[in-house]
Amino acid sequence: VSGRKGRKHGKEVCDLLIMNIRQLLTIPSTEGPLSNPDRKSLGIVENGFVGIIKEVGEGKPLMRARRSVDAKNNIVLPGFIDAHTHMIFAGSREREFSMRVGGRDYLEIMKEGGGIQSTVQSTRKASREELFTESYRRLNDILSWGTTTCEVKSGYGLTTSDEIKMLDVARKLGNEHPVDVIPTFLGAHDVPVEYRNEKEDYIDLLTNEMIPRVSEGNYARFCDVFCEEGVFNKEETERILSAGNAHGLKAKIHVDEFVNIGGCELAESVHAVSCDHLLKTDEKGIESMKSAGTIAVLLPGSNLFLMEEEKPPIQMMRKKGLPIAIASDFNPGSSPILSMPVIISLSCLLYGLTPEEAIVGATVNAAYALEEEGRIGSIEKGKKADIVVMRYSNYEEIPYWFAQKRVECIIKGGEIVVGKGGRLN
Ligand code: NIG
Ligand code: FE
Repeated sequence: VSGRKGRKHGKEVCDLLIMNIRQLLTIPSTEGPLSNPDRKSLGIVENGFVGIIKEVGEGKPLMRARRSVDAKNNIVLPGFIDAHTHMIFAGSREREFSMRVGGRDYLEIMKEGGGIQSTVQSTRKASREELFTESYRRLNDILSWGTTTCEVKSGYGLTTSDEIKMLDVARKLGNEHPVDVIPTFLGAHDVPVEYRNEKEDYIDLLTNEMIPRVSEGNYARFCDVFCEEGVFNKEETERILSAGNAHGLKAKIHVDEFVNIGGCELAESVHAVSCDHLLKTDEKGIESMKSAGTIAVLLPGSNLFLMEEEKPPIQMMRKKGLPIAIASDFNPGSSPILSMPVIISLSCLLYGLTPEEAIVGATVNAAYALEEEGRIGSIEKGKKADIVVMRYSNYEEIPYWFAQKRVECIIKGGEIVVGKGGRLN
């Protein structure tokens, strides 16, 4: 952080200058993901400015700018990064919501052919155009809440062509929408009905056909598996993720959501970039993640909507210094929430994360969970200018004003996309 001091002539010119910032959260991250973040980790500059992004400082900037944004004495922070979503799907599942509220169980509904399989049916029927149109609207929605990058999983196709159809849509969304889309192959979301009695054959299809095709076509960066009792067990998960690794797809795992079957212990052998959900995780799992350099991605939205009483072992995660990210898990079954500010509030209310842990979890640590830390997640010289101005005077207001949309302006890649002069208004 450099101020005006020592600079005699403000000759440098930048494209866009954000000034009049009451509280600027830079959240520097040069040392790796942050464990046990506190107020100091937020890199707060009071009364700051950002010259996109050549200079970050305090007071009045000397640099000249072609255009400027007046932050009007509000807070400014990095755009939110949603590191776990199932954004692309057709249909909706409000009936199941009513059933669960009435006492039915998610895994039971799933076994009866509802749940993921019902979204698979409607997604298989949908055309690329239909999926694109619906998902494009969802991206508008997440952007309006301040999310500038999101991960998107396949997993509602479960045939080679339908999985590729989803990933094709993800690619087109990333190309055409201002929000950056990071694609993940989740062909191992469930065993499709037509393979119910031939699970081994489906795993062969995943490892011998789908993964190679996804990799050759450069359709995804990550490979994910739903490692759960009655879905894919530990050994099957390892086989699928190893095949992914062999084809250059980094591992992510849906794990310990309902039953702990030891999936987190795979973090080391499959070099998991992240393990997600973690409601039932124990010390052994945390240690494995810690030594593998894995990010723990917590998903309080699905925790709430599944009405699960158990919570992730936050205290133990803190004690072992495990870096935590938070994400929406946005999907039509277990988490119809797409707002990152809402997820920040829920992580504080349900899990007892501090506002600092939650904000770091939705920015810098989320960037690590997507291996995007070199480009985004903080407001630092040389990083991509994905920046949000929120109508607050203090960052602690973000979790506090529950579900209130207070986005004043969003700058994406140095361009104003939401707010005065924005192209999406
Ligand atoms: O992360 N647990 C598996 N997958 C999703 C739910 C998907 C769905 O219900 O459609 C999750 O919660
Ligand atoms: Fe998920």
